[in-house]
Amino acid sequence: MAQLDGLLPAAQSMQEWLTETRRHFHRHPELSCQEHATAEAIAGRLRDMGVAVTEGIAETGVVGLLAGRDGPCVAIRADTDALPITEATEAPYSSQVPGVMHACGHDAHITCALGAARLLADRAAELPGAVKLIFQPSEEMVSGAARMIDEGVLENPAVDRCIGFHVSALYPVPVVSFSHGPKMAGTNSFTIEVRGESGHAGYPHLTVDPIPIAAQIVLALQTVVSRRVQPTEPAVISIGQIQGGTKCNIIGDRVVMEGTMRFFEPDLREAMVAWTKRIVEGVAESMGGSAQLRVGTGTPPLICDDDLTDVARAACARAIGEEAVALHDERFMGGEDFAYFAERVPSTHFWLGIRKPGAADWPSLHSDRFDIDETALPVGAASLAACALGLLEGAGE
Ligand code: NI
Repeated sequence: MAQLDGLLPAAQSMQEWLTETRRHFHRHPELSCQEHATAEAIAGRLRDMGVAVTEGIAETGVVGLLAGRDGPCVAIRADTDALPITEATEAPYSSQVPGVMHACGHDAHITCALGAARLLADRAAELPGAVKLIFQPSEEMVSGAARMIDEGVLENPAVDRCIGFHVSALYPVPVVSFSHGPKMAGTNSFTIEVRGESGHAGYPHLTVDPIPIAAQIVLALQTVVSRRVQPTEPAVISIGQIQGGTKCNIIGDRVVMEGTMRFFEPDLREAMVAWTKRIVEGVAESMGGSAQLRVGTGTPPLICDDDLTDVARAACARAIGEEAVALHDERFMGGEDFAYFAERVPSTHFWLGIRKPGAADWPSLHSDRFDIDETALPVGAASLAACALGLLEGAGE
């Protein structure tokens, strides 16, 4: 494991390249499933390093492969898509695409993974196995991971271990924070359509008003978590959008609501859907209308493998310093489609601190002012390379 010691200085010597790379992707963000130029730019940089590249997995996904000696295969996964947000940072490297911004730090993810590829490419012949670099599109629409897996990204060679990471404004540079066990919630998005009968708002008795029905449904849904889920078990149900009606004196015939469920216990997915369905249909019927629940996309909960996390954490500590590596067994109710990888192969996932040291507060992910302290980039690159080396060594144990 002696090669871990030189990773951080090597990554720091690439600071200028990492900064330029990140700023390129930051200036040219692309929305989910549209990451064509992003994919091309990633593939070009990998080829420049002598990494074998496969493009077009899940259309805009890119895979790089560093094959060393015979041995296990460890994957590093970075997501590549941006968000429909108008950037307000006024940074000189601001988004040049109106209404689109890398506000979730995926530009930094791409960069750190490319940085790790560069660090490992220098040592490719000595690698005790293979490192697969997975650049995954459409994380924000939670469709990219499952699609890449369906299209065989975990095969040829078969991936034995997987490393995921995400930038975090909770931690300053150079902190990297791991967790054991459950980390990110499973998610289910859903739509509720309430149907009534339209008419004049002055004569509600001649209509079936869908708005009070929708209001009762929203309130009744609060009992799913408070009265149905065991109190010690984390769960959330939130309605994020309501649309209905056209004018103050018209009763419309329809209200559409969208929401999300969050949970860790896998059985809760179906149970929460069943309870929601009963409330939605029952409340609407009791008030003379009708309603339908449609369940959309979701992700499984992200569960980190404990042993793997310890191996990765130890490798990181060796590479970037014991004091920079934290362990917080904390659960987050956000979703992350890296969970699909973790569901298939033992995996670990870490937060990469991106807040400037000493800053009192920092814009959160998905904020139009989100930015990173770019000295986090070499820390991320070195940490990913260290995790990969550590897991390659540890995989045979
Ligand atoms: Ni993200």
